Amino acid sequence: MTSSRTFPRDFLFGAATAAYQIEGAAHEDGRTDSIWDTFSRVPGAVINADNGDVACDHYHRYRDDVALMRELGLQTYRFSTSWARVQPDGGAFNPLGLDFYSRLVDELIEANIKPWLTLYHWDLPQTLEDQGGWANRDTAERFRDYALGVHDALGDRVDIWTTLNEPWCSSFLSYTAGAHAPGRQSTEAGLAAGHHLLLAHGLTVDALRQRDPNLNLGITLNLTVAKPVDPTHPGDVDAARRIDGQFNRFFLDPIFRGEYPADVLDDVAELGLDAVIRDGDLAQIMQPIDALGVNYYHGELVSDRPAQHPLPGEAPTTRVIRSPFPAADGVFHHPQGLPLTAMDWEVQPAGLTELLQRVDREYTGALATSLYVTENGAAYDDVVTDDGRVADLDRTDFLTAHLGAVLDAIDSGVDVKGYFYWSLLDNYEWAWGYAKRFGIVRVDYRTQQRTVKDSGHAYAAIIRNRSLVP
Ligand code: NOJ
Repeated sequence: MTSSRTFPRDFLFGAATAAYQIEGAAHEDGRTDSIWDTFSRVPGAVINADNGDVACDHYHRYRDDVALMRELGLQTYRFSTSWARVQPDGGAFNPLGLDFYSRLVDELIEANIKPWLTLYHWDLPQTLEDQGGWANRDTAERFRDYALGVHDALGDRVDIWTTLNEPWCSSFLSYTAGAHAPGRQSTEAGLAAGHHLLLAHGLTVDALRQRDPNLNLGITLNLTVAKPVDPTHPGDVDAARRIDGQFNRFFLDPIFRGEYPADVLDDVAELGLDAVIRDGDLAQIMQPIDALGVNYYHGELVSDRPAQHPLPGEAPTTRVIRSPFPAADGVFHHPQGLPLTAMDWEVQPAGLTELLQRVDREYTGALATSLYVTENGAAYDDVVTDDGRVADLDRTDFLTAHLGAVLDAIDSGVDVKGYFYWSLLDNYEWAWGYAKRFGIVRVDYRTQQRTVKDSGHAYAAIIRNRSLVP
């Protein structure tokens, strides 16, 4: 820790959302089903069988939502375009769908908020899934065409473009674990999806760069810090290596080094990845990028053995995370005794500092690639008080602790250029439906009323002061 708690002059403060989680209007203006519309209809796939049909009704309320962002003082807003709205059925472009994003972008610019556009936040058109989805190589090329169409419509006003959000989720969690749409359970399909997502990223960066060399292009990854329970026990060290391999290096190494990590390739030998990778793919994936977005929620303490000795005051839990990545089977997550959010995720701000330092040291530091925290946030069981307030001190503490962790990274020499709180609004938390609230703005799903939570007011003050010191 240092005494400076002030943010650099050019540091950007923002908040993030994603199309399916907030827009609603799932059957309007030509939009067709995405894999999340389909998946949410599968019995048991999503808590309460919740779906995104209405969500936060942002499609109709985007003007009010941008006004809220302005009130909070956000400098930038990270949102995603819905592929199924822009190219229903993955085919012809839909002018009505594109027009929504065009109006949103105009509204943001008018409010002096920088639009930060993510092209893929998990809502693949169902028709493309029916043709094999991300396990099919063709989807990568279709994605590039989709990106170019969005650029045709918005490229005159949007200059920051993220290709993919958290490809780990849209490959391993979705095609191998089956916990996210499309709910497939195949180790081979998960690996193929991972490779094709990376290829889609590379093809798209290349194509957009050729269109306009001045664009700021990047990708967002969900990275983690994995520590062995006992650094002297080889099984624990190997468990940490496997988690690091699947979450971090499987994506970072192709993007920045043009190769998959040798140990990960060993882990997945015989699972068909070799047959999926074609000559030239890795060179295509390794495009120079301007921004790497890091999504960080928590770190992990791992072992190849269940937790035997609960920490004082704790139940003897042994959480086995069913791994979507074959080589990480048999990894046991041990509690670190840290406070938990409503997702049961441990609050571990120091992990964010460590992660940013590591990514800078091993990947981006020597390159012209800036680091942004594109997501960080917490779900809590908010309570509305009689006077209509949400006094979510736990979320304010989470936010300030993690912004402090970002400042620690900056103080140690890492050039972190911005931070996006996840999320602007309470919204559809995927397989958790509406049960988990991450917003700094509360959404009453019955009335669609928005209420800025105390954490939202606290964030606004931090942005106003550009400092953690009130
Ligand atoms: C990561 C995802 O990008 C976002 O969609 C999700 O809601 C948050 N993490 C919280 O789980």
